[in-house]
Parts: sequence; C-alpha cells; structure tokens
Amino acid sequence: MNSEKFPQIRAGGSLLLAWRIKNKNVLIVGGGNVACSRVIKALEADSSITLVCPEQGLKEELKYRIQQNQIRKWINREFEISDLDGMDMVLSAIDDPVRSREICQFCREKNIPVNVADVPPLCDFYFMAEHRDGPLQIAVSTNGKGPKLATIIRDHIQDNLPKRIGDSIEAVGLLRQKVREVDPDHASSEKRMNWMSKICEEWSLDELKMLNEKKIDELISHYKNNNVPKYSEIISSEGKKGYTGRIIIVGAGPGDPELLTIKATKALSSADLIVSDRLIPKAVFANVTCEIRLAPSKSGETKSEDAQDLLQNWCLEALNEGKTVIRLKIGDPFLFGRGGEEVAFFKERGWNVEVIPGISSGLSAPMAANVPVTYRGLSDQVLITTGQGTKGKLPNLPTYDIMRTTVVLMAVGKASELSKELLDKGYPPDLPTIFIENSNRPEERLIEATVSTLGEVVEKEHVVAPSTLVIGRTVNTLKNQELIC
Ligand SMILES: C[S@@+](CC[C@H](N)C(=O)[O-])C[C@H]1O[C@@H](n2cnc3c(N)ncnc32)[C@H](O)[C@@H]1O
Repeated sequence: MNSEKFPQIRAGGSLLLAWRIKNKNVLIVGGGNVACSRVIKALEADSSITLVCPEQGLKEELKYRIQQNQIRKWINREFEISDLDGMDMVLSAIDDPVRSREICQFCREKNIPVNVADVPPLCDFYFMAEHRDGPLQIAVSTNGKGPKLATIIRDHIQDNLPKRIGDSIEAVGLLRQKVREVDPDHASSEKRMNWMSKICEEWSLDELKMLNEKKIDELISHYKNNNVPKYSEIISSEGKKGYTGRIIIVGAGPGDPELLTIKATKALSSADLIVSDRLIPKAVFANVTCEIRLAPSKSGETKSEDAQDLLQNWCLEALNEGKTVIRLKIGDPFLFGRGGEEVAFFKERGWNVEVIPGISSGLSAPMAANVPVTYRGLSDQVLITTGQGTKGKLPNLPTYDIMRTTVVLMAVGKASELSKELLDKGYPPDLPTIFIENSNRPEERLIEATVSTLGEVVEKEHVVAPSTLVIGRTVNTLKNQELIC
C-alpha cells in the first residue's frame, strides 16, 4: 500500500463538533464568574438549565437570570448526587477540588458527559475560545494546554474577519431556504448545492450581505436556468424594473448654512433620505423636510469601519427602494472626508454617483480668521494635511520651507506630537500658528500659539474639535489691518 496516498493521522487532538443541546438538561454546579459564563453559553445553545448553588454563593447576574426565568430550576443548596437524575450534561465550576473530583466520578458512572472547570483530566469535553456573529461561530481549542492563548488566537482571527460577516451568512441561509422552496425535489439536491456554492464563490461577502427579499427573488429566477449572475446584474435589473434610486455625495461646507452652495441646497430639498456626518450643525437642515439619519458615533462599541458599513448600508437600502439619497459630508467630501472611497463603494455596487463639491474648512477656516494662505513674498504654496494619518499616525511631513503655509485638519489631539515633528523637520520654534475652532459658526474661537507651544496651548485653552490649525508666516500678516467681512 502506498502510504503517501492517504493523510497522516495526527493523534492527540479532540473531535471538534458543534454540539446541539437545544432543550437538553444541563446541570451547572456553582455560582461564581465561571458558572455564570457557563450559564450564558448554555442559554445561547437553547438548553434547559438547572443551577445548583446556595444563595450566598450566587453572583448578581445569576440572581438576575433566575429572576428572569432564564434558568429553568435553581436548587438553593450544595450539590447532591440526586441532582444528576435526568441530566444530559454537567458543568461544574466550584472551588472545592475534592467535591469536583467526586462530581466527575458520579457523572462518569452514570455516563453523563462532564466538564470540571480548569481541571483538564476531569473533562470529557473542553470549552473553546469563541467568536460569535449571528449564525457564525468560530471556536479555538488548544486542547486544554493554553486557554489564554486560545483567546489571543481567537481575537486575532476575529480582528481579521470582514465586518458583520454574520449578515452575509443570514442572507445566504435565506437564499438557500428559498431555493429549496422553489425546487424541493430530492433529485435536484446536487443542482441546488452546486448553484449555491457558485454564488458563494463568485459574490463577495459584502455583496452577499446586501441580499434582500427583492434581490433573492431576482436571483431565484436565474437558478431556474442554472445561471449564476453577477451582483451588478441583479442591481441593474432592479433599476430596469423601476427602482430609480439616486445617490448624491454633497459637501456641506464648514457649518454655516449660508456657505452651502446653491446646488447643495437644491439637492437637499430634493432628497428622500439624508445620511449626514455628525459634525454638521442642525442649522444646515433648517429647511429640510425628509428623513435625516446621523452617522453612528464612532466611540465606545462602534468601530470606525462598523459605523461606515452601517451608514453605507442605509444608503444602499434606500437606493434599492428607489429613493434619492444624499450623503452629506462636512466641508468638501473629497478632502479628508472619505468621499472618494464612498464614490468607489457605490460604483462597485452598480450605482451612478453624483457629486456636489463643498467649501472646505482647509481653506475657508483660515479665510474666516483673516489668515491668507498665500501672500506675495511670504507664502507661495499651501500644504493641507491631517493630524490623523494612516492608523492615527502623523503623516510624513516635508521639511520646513519658509514660503509654505501648512494647514492641518484633525490636529487637536495630536498637538504635542505635531509640535515635536515640526521642530524635527526644521520649523522655527517661534513660527506663528493659529487654531481656528468652530470656524464659520457663531461659536468660532481663534487660539494663537507657536510651533513650540502647540501642545501646551491646546491644553491650557481647552481647544476642541472641529479646529483647523494654520502654521506659517502669514498667520499674523493681516492682524493689525482692518477688514470688513
Ligand atoms: C474629517 S475632516 C473633514 C474635512 C472636510 N472634508 C473639509 O473639507 O472641511 C474633519 C476636520 O475638518 C476640520 N473642520 C471641519 N469643520 C470645521 C470647522 N467648522 N472649523 C474648523 N475646522 C473644521 C477639522 O480639522 C476637523 O477635525
């Protein structure tokens, strides 16, 4: 026999299975943190839980779950052997090693699978570090050797997964169910499987995520001819059927409603839905009558990419309903506003994108503060950059040029770091700088500093975002000159 023909056996592993314990009787012994996490896992698997633990040992969350009737039966005392009657699984999480060993022994005598927390020899199965996103469950096992390492590996996998992949899986589940409904014949099982596999291979996860009832119906009509269409074909055929959605990316200017362009104002009044950046003041919407949704906040639970995904999906949903959608962005959408990326996103999904430029804070904030960014003999070039480059780092700035004005957006949280970087790049320590906070708004504030004092001035004066920072010799040029705005 040729030994290379068959795979090598790598002994010493566990049999990885997804154990279905819906409505099964699970006994959990203990009332602390581990018992609580076991209760949650068992609840998420739809099992029927009996908890045994004296009241004084119960963690607050467990009391809550008992009160909410999430735990079928709570036995208010220490474990007794009779508790095992009728149990399908036992999870023990108590601190007493002698009692733990006994519980394990009783279970094994009765052929009940058992897990004693933190004692691998007393476990018939292990818990794994798990990632859950809707129907998706990913679990990592180190076979009891390194639980902490398992969570680190799990986090690594989790961080590298596409955002909201659970939605893609839900959508595929729905499509699969529909295919079975229209072609339930047992003899078609191979055709169904092959067609579903091709859709999963040829559509991106983002595209699968966008499957809704309408698109599924359209896709099913292709199944009948065993055809696998591209996502863009489905979108454009929706258009043909009278879905005439329009997407317009509009620059809102720096925040003064009078600095909206006429074109932007007209677009706002024609919209069915406005999906707006948070920075845009309410005054800009004074004459708007349609629904306005604000971009989700990027703090706390919501990561920046998740927030971006969510608002783009709002737009797509409305587009698919034939609505005119405005994506309203502060200043000019193409200057540090992810406008370009959003145009690409909608184009890739088959939509024609219209754009309306806006007045950018990069140039309008200095003007409102009487700071010309160019001036004969003082500045013949302008650099507009950001304090928050890739992964929040400062971009690589060029060395000092006496004839250049530098404008920095999103610089407030980076003032000290920026000051150091500028000094390293040869900027004179006493070169004037100015923060223009809330420019073109009633609460506008001007805060002066120099290259070397940027950090301390931001702290002392409590400079807040949105602020635009200007650095260069023209900062003070018009200071003593009367100007009528
Ligand atoms: C994400 S960037 C967007 C820039 C925008 N696309 C533009 O062209 O103005 C946000 C930054 O713009 C600047 N900014 C926006 N509105 C501002 C305002 N009213 N006053 C001062 N700076 C502003 C701030 O530096 C803020 O951190």
